[in-house]
Amino acid sequence: MEQNTSSQENGSTSVARLPLSKIIKSPRKRILVTGGAGFIGSHLVDRLMEGGHNEVIVADNFFTGTKDNIRRWIGHPNFELIRHDVTNPLLVEVDQIYHLACPASPIFYKYNPVKTTKTNVLGTLNMLGLAKRVRARFLLTSTSEVYGDPLEHPQTEEYWGNVNPIGVRSCYDEGKRIAETLAFDYHRQHGVEIRVARIFNTYGPRMNIDDGRVVSNFIAQALRGEEMTVQVPGTQTRSFCYVSDMVDGLIRLMEGNDTGPINLGNPGEFTMLELAARVKELVVPSASWRMVDNTPDDPRKRKPDISKAKAILGWEPKVTLREGLPLMAADFQERLGLTDKKQQ
Ligand SMILES: NC(=O)c1ccc[n+]([C@@H]2O[C@H](COP(=O)([O-])OP(=O)(O)OC[C@H]3O[C@@H](n4cnc5c(N)ncnc54)[C@H](O)[C@@H]3O)[C@@H](O)[C@H]2O)c1
Repeated sequence: MEQNTSSQENGSTSVARLPLSKIIKSPRKRILVTGGAGFIGSHLVDRLMEGGHNEVIVADNFFTGTKDNIRRWIGHPNFELIRHDVTNPLLVEVDQIYHLACPASPIFYKYNPVKTTKTNVLGTLNMLGLAKRVRARFLLTSTSEVYGDPLEHPQTEEYWGNVNPIGVRSCYDEGKRIAETLAFDYHRQHGVEIRVARIFNTYGPRMNIDDGRVVSNFIAQALRGEEMTVQVPGTQTRSFCYVSDMVDGLIRLMEGNDTGPINLGNPGEFTMLELAARVKELVVPSASWRMVDNTPDDPRKRKPDISKAKAILGWEPKVTLREGLPLMAADFQERLGLTDKKQQ
């Protein structure tokens, strides 16, 4: 067991095992957000920075994230940005770690699958090691992908999943499963305070425009005047959670007492054809779609059971797809430099 022998030898109180906030009586929490330049991470950073109660450090390698997403905080005295790849160790004194670093879209996580596995395994190991060392609370953003192509519907946290261990998505699905295992083993073996969120499809402003995820695909295609490409059969379902709801759930989980895993997502279920119809109705009325081939191991159904989040965190999503889609479309329109197609 680690001991602060020098402080014990000179008779002072040992501080090595105390969390940082107990040592330097700062009114502010120091929070590390890995992957904080990404889509969800940057919205989380906004919430953590607003109000001035926290000091936030972002560690990101900018693989899928951008400085633009967090530009408003660069230069702020409570904010720090580190270009860092989490597959390498990092030592920073913090009270909490939100560990988001990992590409979330299939296009990017399949681009270099070995790196994706490394990010999930070595990256999570490094951040848990840091949490252990500085006595920080650690939150992992796991995923509904741990349920694979689920045989139970909707998915509760007790369901162990139906995952292909050797498929093209496995670097992400199995990577997140081992990340969860590591978190729970660090908790059981080393007493690290962990929180595990299983995030279901989330959407909103700042998503990568060409990341291949279905909501960004449909909105970008419709805005560009292209046909939306609906993968066959089109009856496969997803649930879509607006990003502000997701950030609220993550903060509640971090601040609460339950380790999880806890499903965070919107239980409202839509088929891909229904989603295309909503984009047509709410974003570009002249839009149309065509059917295309599906990708391997694409789950047919995905819908969270959020009873646990409701009971333990008092959380449920508030923003409907009808409210969220236009907000995301407005952001895409601006970034694509397009005029308002809806007005035309
Ligand atoms: N968006 C969703 O629908 C969704 C669903 C389930 C789980 N999640 C999880 O939430 C987290 C954030 O997802 P997102 O949608 O914001 O994705 P994102 O790709 O926008 O953000 C990921 C961030 O991590 C960074 N990153 C990737 N590899 C890294 C590495 N090795 N070292 C340091 N930084 C690295 C990227 O540059 C990016 O800024 C991910 O862990 C993802 O698995 C997201």
